[in-house]
Amino acid sequence: MKREIALEFSRITEAAAIVAYYYLGRGDKIAADDAAVSAMRYILNQTQIDGKIVIGEGEIDEAPMLYIGEKVGAGGPRVDIAVDPIEGTRMVALGQSNALSVILAAEEGCLLEAPDMYMEKLVVNQECVGAIDIDLPLKTNLKIISKVMGKPLTDITMVTLEKERHLGIIKEVQALGVKVYAIPDGDVAASILTCMPKSEVDLMYCIGGAPEGVVSAGVIRALGGDMQGRLLLRKDVKEDPKNASESELARCIEMGVEVNKKLELNDLCSTDNVIFSATGVTKGDLLNGVSIKNNIAETQSLLIRGKSRTIRILESTHFLEKKDDFIRNIVKNIK
Ligand code: FBP
Repeated sequence: MKREIALEFSRITEAAAIVAYYYLGRGDKIAADDAAVSAMRYILNQTQIDGKIVIGEGEIDEAPMLYIGEKVGAGGPRVDIAVDPIEGTRMVALGQSNALSVILAAEEGCLLEAPDMYMEKLVVNQECVGAIDIDLPLKTNLKIISKVMGKPLTDITMVTLEKERHLGIIKEVQALGVKVYAIPDGDVAASILTCMPKSEVDLMYCIGGAPEGVVSAGVIRALGGDMQGRLLLRKDVKEDPKNASESELARCIEMGVEVNKKLELNDLCSTDNVIFSATGVTKGDLLNGVSIKNNIAETQSLLIRGKSRTIRILESTHFLEKKDDFIRNIVKNIK
């Protein structure tokens, strides 16, 4: 992928984040996601790529989605795309911090194609490449990480999601002396922070969404860190009253991916020829959120180009009356 195309990807997440802004604190995560999906799809279809969505958000909570297999783009290099128009729909609905809009594009055939289901994930920084093994207990991995990094467990910081399924793990890890930051939602930002210069986060562990896992894997690959994952059926993560696990399993078989099997970074993303863009929707540890005053929006985005390992932070000012009718209409309909 040519470097010129990278900037185009920031336009995609900027548009999704701007429309999501209008849903902050309104309690409707589905409507927020729907608007962000429409904005993202609209700008994606103006982008000079021949793209295919290989993993997207939607099936876990039946949110509107950019469909797996959907073709996007206005023509250009063939790329595979993993998306999460709003990573943290609940945060948007409740006006909480750390919501992002994210997209990852990679050379065709290099991203894991999987259904939208759960994934167990362990993410570490550049110093720990090759050291982790998700098949081992988390406690063992922490001891390895501490040894490899040459710092005591009491100096290690792990981020996880504050979910009921993690409460046991959180206690166990804290008992080792490790600092655990348990955030309500948003494991993509937490995963990226493990590999960002100046970040104090050493590792991220959680069971969260598989699309978020694939997006993160592309970024971790681009930044030279390490990650392992494992696809999990819903019934092994939480209650499953509608028996979603049955269709997840059927789709996994159809797509040729195995449940419960360790996935190495290379299985999740096998190239560093990736472009990643994230725009903050609400203020967070990684990025500032959108602010809008007098019909002028300010956004902050993170743009990473894997091939050259360049990290850019883009501050943009958008005069909303100059935006395409399509985007302005989404915003108008919200108001
Ligand atoms: P959404 O965009 O679907 O709100 O995702 C937020 C998130 O916290 C992800 O970061 C995480 O991977 C997933 O939800 C965890 O799923 P669940 O909320 O079902 O436990």
